[in-house]
Amino acid sequence: MSTPIPLVDLRREYARIRSEIDESVARVLRQGWFVLGEETEAFEEAWAVYCGTSHAIGVGNGSDAIQLTLWAAGIGPGDEVILPALTSAFTALAVAIAGAQPVFVDVDPERTTLDPEAFAAGITPRTAAVVPVHLYGCPAKMAPILEIAQRHGLLVLEDASQAHGARYEGSQVGSLGKVAAFSFYPSTNLGAYGDAGAVTTDDSALAEKLRALRHGGQHPAVVPASPGATWAETLGTSSRMDDIQAAILGTKLRHLSAWNKRRRSVASRYQAGLRSTGSLALPPTPEDAELAPHRYLVRASLRDKMREYLAGAGIDSGMHSIRGVAFGEAYASLGYKPGSCPNAERIAAQAVLLPVFPQISSAEVDKIVRLIRIFLAIH
Ligand SMILES: Cc1ncc(COP(=O)(O)O)c(C=O)c1O
Repeated sequence: MSTPIPLVDLRREYARIRSEIDESVARVLRQGWFVLGEETEAFEEAWAVYCGTSHAIGVGNGSDAIQLTLWAAGIGPGDEVILPALTSAFTALAVAIAGAQPVFVDVDPERTTLDPEAFAAGITPRTAAVVPVHLYGCPAKMAPILEIAQRHGLLVLEDASQAHGARYEGSQVGSLGKVAAFSFYPSTNLGAYGDAGAVTTDDSALAEKLRALRHGGQHPAVVPASPGATWAETLGTSSRMDDIQAAILGTKLRHLSAWNKRRRSVASRYQAGLRSTGSLALPPTPEDAELAPHRYLVRASLRDKMREYLAGAGIDSGMHSIRGVAFGEAYASLGYKPGSCPNAERIAAQAVLLPVFPQISSAEVDKIVRLIRIFLAIH
């Protein structure tokens, strides 16, 4: 059998940047400071510059970035937070753990991101925030979302975990709303080699609160001084960025633009090869955005059969939970019934996620295209 093609291959990435990564990890080991040290500060500064915001606050993971932001903004029990029904389960989980009620609304059938009209229709007197998710590297349609949110006085918290480096109307994701959350989970476009996350914002007061909340509620000025002095100034949690991850992220950030360019070229290659099949729905190519493709989402009516066929040829693919996040047992009390978010449900049921990692070869993409075309011809 020929060499398998994984959905993501971080071994190939490491092989290409090994000396830079090894040096950055060794630097941290030599410095002997492992949490919220110089490397975290340097990465926070670099990430804020990259995103075009005044602040970036490093935290333990992307879920905490969302949860702590809601906490810092005073959003919790009694509040509703609107989010798209098609997203990572962790977006919703973070809202629920913050104590707010997730309100799932439908997505745009083409773009697959939060539908502005569904968002507007989901607003109630208890709505406090909206979390547009830039899914699979495609920015949500932010202009109408921002306009509606402003009219209703709602916080706009972007979940940019799947779209590092994507742009909407010329601006970087992460700088579009009041505040944004990023995961640096290893398989994301800018992935750590472990868990990490960040919040970006121009709001200095919010940034200061987040810096305290991530470190037990201590005022940032005392980090890394002895904790005894200011413990429990406010309640907080333990969700700090670690310096080895910060050093790795800083190193990988230098490659992000080139890697995203390669991701776009992989996506174009899929697009060119699959466009004429007619029976697959392909990802959006909106004119208002520069994508940072994270996975290549095709929609196939015979999803499971197609995934099995690809797996038989050693090709790994991803999928969504069959009915989407809103229908998980954890949210049974919210009472979503099949048909509540029809676009999201249809996309979730048909989605096949194909690899677009930067080190995938053009020959591998061509092989995947060829196999899909054969599959469609015989089914
Ligand atoms: C859209 C989205 N939001 C949030 C998360 C949560 O990030 P983490 O796994 O770092 O907590 C992820 C990744 O898992 C994600 O893809």
